[in-house]
Amino acid sequence: MSKSAESALAELFAAAKAAQANAYAPYSRFKVGAALRSADGALYCGANVENAAYPEGVCAETSAISAMALAGDRRIAEILVIGDGEGLCTPCGGCRQRIREFADGATRIHVAGPEGVRATFTLAELLPHSFGPGHLRTA
Ligand code: THU
Repeated sequence: MSKSAESALAELFAAAKAAQANAYAPYSRFKVGAALRSADGALYCGANVENAAYPEGVCAETSAISAMALAGDRRIAEILVIGDGEGLCTPCGGCRQRIREFADGATRIHVAGPEGVRATFTLAELLPHSFGPGHLRTA
C-alpha cells in the first residue's frame, strides 16, 4: 500500500473509532462506528443509535450514509466499519444495500476491530449480483 493510501486508511480508522465511542447501544451493548470517504474527498462518520422500540435503531453505516447525503454528497469512495469482539463486524444485509445505492462493485469496505483493519472486501464480494439504481432505468 502506498504511503498516502496508508494514511488515508489510518484517517478513516481514527474517525470511525471516535464515532464508535459515541454510539448509543444500551440494549445490545455492541458499539459500532463507521466512517466513509466520499468521491469528493470528504469524510462522514456514523455510529449505531438504538431505540427502546428495538427495530427503530439504526446501524453505524446507515448513519454515516445519512450524514453524507445530507451534505449533498452522493458517492462513496471507501467505507470502514469498526466493532469490538473477535468476529469481523461486516455490514448487515440492509447496510450493504444502502451502501450499494451510492457505490459500485469495486468500492472497498474495510472491517476493523479496536486494534486496526482486519479485512477489506469489495462491495461485489459482500453483495454479489446486487440490485441498484441502474435497474430502474428501463427506457
Ligand atoms: N450494527 C451496526 O451498526 N452495523 C453493523 O454492521 C452490524 C450491526 C449494530 C446494530 C445494533 O445496534 C448492534 O450493532 C447489534 O446488532
